[in-house]
Amino acid sequence: MTEWQKSDWRNKPRVQMPEYTDGAKLNAVEAKLASYPPLVFAGEARRLRDKLAAVSRGDAFLLQGGDCAESFAEFSADNIRDTFKVMLQMAMVLTYGAKVPVVKVGRMAGQMAKPRSAPTETISGVELPSYRGDIVNGFDFTPEARIPDADRMLQAYTQAAATLNLLRAFSTGGYADVHKVHAWTLGFTASPEAERYRELANRISDTLDFMEAAGIRDEASHAMQTVDFYTSHEALLLEYEEALCRLDSTSGKWLAGSGHMIWIGDRTRQPDGAHVEFCKGVQNPIGLKCGPSMTTGHLKSLMNTLNPNNEAGRLTLIARFGAGNVGEHLPRLIKAVQEEGANVVWTCDPMHGNTIKSSTGYKTRPFDSVLREVRDFFGVHNAEGTIPGGVHFEMTGKDVTECTGGVRAVTDEDLSDRYHTACDPRLNASQSLELAFLVAEELSSRREGLARAAGQ
Ligand code: PEP
Ligand code: CO
Repeated sequence: MTEWQKSDWRNKPRVQMPEYTDGAKLNAVEAKLASYPPLVFAGEARRLRDKLAAVSRGDAFLLQGGDCAESFAEFSADNIRDTFKVMLQMAMVLTYGAKVPVVKVGRMAGQMAKPRSAPTETISGVELPSYRGDIVNGFDFTPEARIPDADRMLQAYTQAAATLNLLRAFSTGGYADVHKVHAWTLGFTASPEAERYRELANRISDTLDFMEAAGIRDEASHAMQTVDFYTSHEALLLEYEEALCRLDSTSGKWLAGSGHMIWIGDRTRQPDGAHVEFCKGVQNPIGLKCGPSMTTGHLKSLMNTLNPNNEAGRLTLIARFGAGNVGEHLPRLIKAVQEEGANVVWTCDPMHGNTIKSSTGYKTRPFDSVLREVRDFFGVHNAEGTIPGGVHFEMTGKDVTECTGGVRAVTDEDLSDRYHTACDPRLNASQSLELAFLVAEELSSRREGLARAAGQ
């Protein structure tokens, strides 16, 4: 067998990737990126893999979330901080319900290339190439903006590096200290979940006071004052991924240096395609989106290709079937996993199967459908005796109006107020927190169910 090369994907059929017209510019950009430092390091990716291995055993829970598409225009410290903050709050709520550590992975610092359902977009009779994410082309509906421009990869790299820098500072520089559990509520608009969160924060503070009084604080202090926060994105733009791919001298294995975890989208998971070819050769944890069209045969073949040594934590299956479709698809895929004896993390993306057009013309997702898919995901795993390992959300810390519903009831008419996404509709801060409370309830009733069963 010849050894895997980071450019091998070039010999495979590719879909959803741009055709760059300026080949010389593309080559120059790739060469420049290849000379830059990687954004993440192999030890970090291995650490995440170990944590995901714990998730696969039910000893931890995965929270993955962030923008559908990060954009150049919305790049700011406030946006990064707010998404980070809501994820910390959600993680608190989930930890409280699940009584296990929550592994936090942002769709951040590289989530800038988008697969699209149609190659072109038509507005008022004008047809132009689709927007494919800021790393590829521009959002403006003009012929110039929609031309793929390789220089955008350099800007994406810079943005990803600065985002990661801020996330690292927030994670270890004091902001994420659990003693600040109350401070994270500042700037919260009044809402029932905010109130619920404050109550939880009070209980956590009491526990911390108790620990301090009992002299336990010191031993636990590092774990309490910092968090591990990882980055992830869809590995769609393979020129960018290849340019940031590095050989790790410690392990002698390749690393995608663009983010800690990368995933393969539901549209680019052809077992013999370019995206699978690239991902199989890097040591990072890999996510695989599984939509309704995933056959058991393909899943088995993908598990063999992507995780030939059946390492726990290497492969995360991200189920995204749509509310009402989980019962039809998840059990058959769980069975395929069991037949192979495969180690996987199962997580639920309740966003991508639930996108609809609202009566006011906006692309939206009803909160109830999102919740229903999560509940069905838990229901199937509880029935099958398998492990619901995590959730994967498109969300933001901002008070946007992109998904309908939630306790603060965003209506179809409200969507135009603050519809800011560069791609798919995201849960806002309050909807995200509400969902975290609902998932925490699922987790704690599951825990009680397991304890009852064990006691019998
Ligand atoms: C996404 O996660 O933004 C996405 C495009 O998902 P999927 O591949 O599941 O459609
Ligand atoms: Co999306």
